[in-house]
Amino acid sequence: MVTGATGLLGSHLLCHLARSGEKIIALKRKESRVEETMALFSRYFSSPEEAVSRVTWVEGDVLDGESISPYGEKVHTVYHCAAMVSFNGSDRDTLLQTNIRGTENICSLCLQHRVRLCFVSSIAALGDAPDESVIIDEDTPEIPGSVHSLYSGSKGASEKIVWDYVRKGMEAVIVNPAIILGTGLRGRSSAKLFEQARKGMPFYTDGVNGYVDVRDVCEVMIRLVNISSIRGERFVLCGGNYSYKELFAVIARAAGKRPPYIRMAPWMTSLAWRLLAFFSLFTGKKSAFTRETARSSQNKSRYSSAKLLKTLPDFRFHTLEETARFFIHL
Ligand SMILES: NC(=O)c1ccc[n+]([C@@H]2O[C@H](COP(=O)([O-])OP(=O)(O)OC[C@H]3O[C@@H](n4cnc5c(N)ncnc54)[C@H](OP(=O)(O)O)[C@@H]3O)[C@@H](O)[C@H]2O)c1
Repeated sequence: MVTGATGLLGSHLLCHLARSGEKIIALKRKESRVEETMALFSRYFSSPEEAVSRVTWVEGDVLDGESISPYGEKVHTVYHCAAMVSFNGSDRDTLLQTNIRGTENICSLCLQHRVRLCFVSSIAALGDAPDESVIIDEDTPEIPGSVHSLYSGSKGASEKIVWDYVRKGMEAVIVNPAIILGTGLRGRSSAKLFEQARKGMPFYTDGVNGYVDVRDVCEVMIRLVNISSIRGERFVLCGGNYSYKELFAVIARAAGKRPPYIRMAPWMTSLAWRLLAFFSLFTGKKSAFTRETARSSQNKSRYSSAKLLKTLPDFRFHTLEETARFFIHL
């Protein structure tokens, strides 16, 4: 079963699972839209009918344990991709509920039915680098008192729930992807970043972050779940660490657009989020550029996937250029 099957990661994962011949239960909410997810199958398969026939859509909400309970006995693995990805303070309650209580409901289902869980955490749930030279991995500790976004906190708390259930006997693989690059699902979480970059983006900041191709996340999740000796481990999935300038330049070049050329100093990003928050009071529309995104756009964080590459020695991440070339036309 795939939760969050209508999201950026869940949709690509359905296509990858269908390609490996699995029968899949895809969880969606009553109001979820499946059109773009289904359209993605025609991008992956020249004749998508057989792959599509492997997917059974079912309705359920991870916040409502009753609604998902019938599926526990029908599956051997749950890929838990459902979550809320938001850096907007007005989403606070739904964000915490969805990411924390939603994960608890899924864990309870998996423990009860002895189902294996592949939990999608995030680099946001990892520890903190004391300075820019430190590369963050699975074992990096948190620095007490360091500032985290509400989203980071929710991913950290949901991962702790998974660890609690692992101690109770649930089998789980935890993946901590970097920022996921991919398209096909318009306006969805980090797909917005790629959409913006391919239109061309004049601005850049000095920030550095980790990125990973959505196809790599899907392949790695499926491979790790199938290694039965992994019963409770986390893996950082980061294909490369890039400055925003590099990231936007590579995608813009692949799209035939001008690379970014205006540097945004920290005071500018700090002014920008305040202005946008002020305007959103009048327009009633949530601002996409918030205090959290302004802060993280200036941060320099680097991540290592050495553990994953040791576990899957034949695996290779797509380069940023390959990712840009592939998704520019999707
Ligand atoms: N995108 C990234 O850069 C990134 C990086 C690291 C980790 N992650 C993690 O990867 C996972 C997938 O993220 P994504 O980028 O695919 O997010 P996304 O595109 O926003 O998709 C979120 C999915 O969760 C579903 N969902 C939300 N609330 C739900 C609920 N109460 N019950 C059932 N389904 C619910 C949504 O369904 P609807 O269609 O009904 O809204 C949608 O299918 C998340 O755990 C996220 O934290 C993402």
